[in-house]
Amino acid sequence: MRKPLIAGNWKLHHSIDEAQTLVHELCEKLADVRNSDILLAPSFTSIPAVAQICASSHIKVGGQNCYPEPQGAFTGEVSALQLKDAGCEFAILGHSERRQIFKEDDTFINAKVHAVLEQGMLAILCVGETLEQRENDELFEVINNQIQLGLHNVNAEQMENVAIAYEPIWAIGTGKTASSDDAAEVHAYIRGLLHGVYSAQVAQNIRIIYGGSVKPDNISSLMAQADIDGALVGGASLKAADFAAIANFPRPLHMASANP
Ligand code: PGA
Repeated sequence: MRKPLIAGNWKLHHSIDEAQTLVHELCEKLADVRNSDILLAPSFTSIPAVAQICASSHIKVGGQNCYPEPQGAFTGEVSALQLKDAGCEFAILGHSERRQIFKEDDTFINAKVHAVLEQGMLAILCVGETLEQRENDELFEVINNQIQLGLHNVNAEQMENVAIAYEPIWAIGTGKTASSDDAAEVHAYIRGLLHGVYSAQVAQNIRIIYGGSVKPDNISSLMAQADIDGALVGGASLKAADFAAIANFPRPLHMASANP
């Protein structure tokens, strides 16, 4: 049974002070949540401070991005090696804001996936379609390409350290969530794809989380879907009460026996 994974993506928000206040609140509110993995991705500048506070909790800290090379003349970049050094245990890769605003392509994202896996960290690979692609019936082709290229040369053993975040671009920060049925359809498609590329075991074990306007009032219906294993939360992760409510979602029946 897959353990739910609830990740907060703070994006470009919070001073170090604000980040510390938020994470102190979260550590308190989430102290008893043991049946989900709780992950936080602060801005680079806040990572060491947040990681220090989280060290005495079960909350894991990670980066929102990284550069594939470990070091070198890459002005302004932060490597997976440096993330690990700062206390990170995971990185979010290929977020649609990276793809759209910073023009990252699948080959570049794939290099980042490898860099993160080489450091023994969890790679959260984000995939998702634009509204136009969905309306043009290109949804599955887009997802297929992003998964196949993003995971190029990642072997079955390494897949134990990979999670996929399905984030329809039209749902991010817009207040529009994919219906849980629509999301479930794509999650099932991704799992089937990974079955074909890898094996039934890889497909069964990998966590596929949903992102895009996840809030306390829609988490339950999303988590009730068998193929939705958690959430990547942007806006609502900036409020301790909201993120705690999401992480404490009422567990649906099919998860009742998982990971007490
Ligand atoms: P949102 O962001 O929850 O604010 O829609 C999700 C994300 O970008 O990961």
